[in-house]
Amino acid sequence: MTRIFSGVKPTGHLTLGNYLGAVRRWAEVDQHRADALFCIVDLHALTVDHDPARVLRLSRQAATLLLASGLDPEVCTVFVQSHVDEHARLSYLLECVATDGEMRRMIQYKEKAARERARGGSVRLSLLTYPVLMAADILAYGADEVPVGDDQTQHVELTRDVAVRFNQRYGHTFVVPRATRPEVAARVMNLQEPTSKMGKSDDVGPGVVYLLDEPDAVRRKVARAVTDSGTEVAYDREERPGISNLLEILAACAGGDPEELSGGYTSYGALKKDTADAVVELLRPVQERHKELCADPAEVERVLRDGAARARETARPTVDAAYRAIGLLPAAD
Ligand code: AMP
Ligand code: TRP
Repeated sequence: MTRIFSGVKPTGHLTLGNYLGAVRRWAEVDQHRADALFCIVDLHALTVDHDPARVLRLSRQAATLLLASGLDPEVCTVFVQSHVDEHARLSYLLECVATDGEMRRMIQYKEKAARERARGGSVRLSLLTYPVLMAADILAYGADEVPVGDDQTQHVELTRDVAVRFNQRYGHTFVVPRATRPEVAARVMNLQEPTSKMGKSDDVGPGVVYLLDEPDAVRRKVARAVTDSGTEVAYDREERPGISNLLEILAACAGGDPEELSGGYTSYGALKKDTADAVVELLRPVQERHKELCADPAEVERVLRDGAARARETARPTVDAAYRAIGLLPAAD
């Protein structure tokens, strides 16, 4: 059976971009067609300045929202990265296989490091080695497929390179995974700045719709979305990024094709209204289920405990095999 692994970082509240670009597909498609593991990658949240209490809160919230979005712990494995030691154990070995040049070429590293330096801050070493930990996440489970948005494909490519190199040097140990991407709304853009992605780490978000936003907040944000000069509703990512983003969101929420949908509108206002309605309807059941789960935190904890136990069992043999293959003396039982 195909194995799937994906992760979400608890660095901010989950957004509509996370949902349309990743989580919805995990729930509707991936968990049913494969042996799937979904991980709250809390160790990755420590690669930039962080507030411990916030990371803790967001990790719990992300787990609750993944379940509210339809991930079924009877069908797939939902767990927290730091609960399973194998990630960190394997990451170190992969640091001995990847090169410093490879790390420095990563676009996400270059962008985040430049931003941090521009603010006069320092760059954590873990930001540089981030892709190796991500590779460990994936390779420890022998994942065949890694569903991610566009921004993560470079990291999955690196994971492949590291897996191939390890296998060549030390004998076949890892499955070589591949990135898969959703067809619609692979990249949801910020409503205020439609040329950059709707990211959850943005501090405040007039242009970011969060999964837990009240209907009024959703309507306000969509109504204030930046549109392009001109008045015609046309789908053109380059020339009309604002309107095209709304068309893509509408298509992803309500079905249809952005280009075809554009023909049904003569005004920006009507498009915004329908888009807001579609987003509100999409989020309603997720928010209702989230509320129920929040009333029963012990249940979420139980799911995460079981998930971690299952994940550990799956990862352990592969990570042990990697330790042996690379030349480390096995510990006596
Ligand atoms: P992150 O928020 O960076 O932890 O990403 C979690 C998952 O959601 C990854 O697969 C991302 O590629 C995806 N994702 C995050 N933001 C967006 C967005 N604006 N559009 C589409 N996918 C996204
Ligand atoms: N780096 C990913 C992101 O920013 C999160 C992540 C960490 C991940 N480990 C992973 C995604 C393993 C897929 C597989 O979105």
